[in-house]
Amino acid sequence: MEYGKFPAYRPRRMRDGELARNMIRETVLSADDFIYPLFVKPGEGRRDEIASMPGVFQVSLDMLMDEIRELLELGIHYVLLFGIPASKDELGSSAWDEHGIVQEACRIIRAEAPEMYIICDVCMCEYTSHGHCGKLDADGYVNNDDTLQLLANEAVSMAKAGTHMVAPSDMMDGRIGFMRRALDEAGFERVPIMSYSTKYASGFYGPFRDAADSTPSFGDRRAYQMDPANSQEGVREALYDIAEGADMVMVKPALPYLDVLQRVKAETGFPTAAYNVSGEYSMVKAAARNGWIDERRVVLELLCGIKRAGADMIITYHAKDAARWLAE
Ligand code: PBG
Repeated sequence: MEYGKFPAYRPRRMRDGELARNMIRETVLSADDFIYPLFVKPGEGRRDEIASMPGVFQVSLDMLMDEIRELLELGIHYVLLFGIPASKDELGSSAWDEHGIVQEACRIIRAEAPEMYIICDVCMCEYTSHGHCGKLDADGYVNNDDTLQLLANEAVSMAKAGTHMVAPSDMMDGRIGFMRRALDEAGFERVPIMSYSTKYASGFYGPFRDAADSTPSFGDRRAYQMDPANSQEGVREALYDIAEGADMVMVKPALPYLDVLQRVKAETGFPTAAYNVSGEYSMVKAAARNGWIDERRVVLELLCGIKRAGADMIITYHAKDAARWLAE
């Protein structure tokens, strides 16, 4: 080859063969990157597949350890717990019941699998009869400040039951500072908070709301979740939560918001999680079932993309499959 006529630098030289590609690979996925969301429900012997999320199950407490052991065998050490309570009321009081479904799940996992790291989602929408993320005023608006105490009760109750970390997903203003103080006063100053800081009002939560039975009975969540058009505000939300004491922040959903994820990571410099949400999962599953895409290839590509954009951790329903494929 004549130098001068062609550029000497030929990127293709490093693409020839797996070993050459591995040498310069910038983003490497591993099972350690994943947090697996787990739905626990009352009853016995229950392992019910969620219709819109093939491969994802709601399990009763007696079936929980099978799920936990499967995850550990795959090298997945982080779970995010969601509860489907036996009963719901206006205030969502089962959220801070000492013997609530998530609290019991924490005790079981702590006793039987101490190597599993437990994160509890903290929100009211799975526990309220109306499905909103907080206490309602007479006019049907969620009362931000009255909700803070309820969320703090829930977080403290989960800490008492043994969760390692709490993850508030409600999007009330000021909840991180309020919750931090409540946890500290209750003696849980070592329990970190992963804040769903940058959570958009998204159509992609549809299948989750089936799974957690948390669809609002009227209205939507646009008054407290973020406008998909805003990224500057997404960074600001993360900075507020950090100032209030968040240990990790989050961008949710992941795929339509990779630009926001990149900004939040770069501009905060804080540990940042991305939530690859239910609707994102269901789209892949549906297309794969129709034979329209190669599921393995697409899943590993999208998870790599989320990590490349800046995620330190990825909350994903694909975790088990991805861990299996990565181990091959
Ligand atoms: C609770 C909560 C939601 C999700 C996580 N925590 C639903 C919502 O805000 O409506 C969604 C997760 C997913 O879609 O996978 N507030």
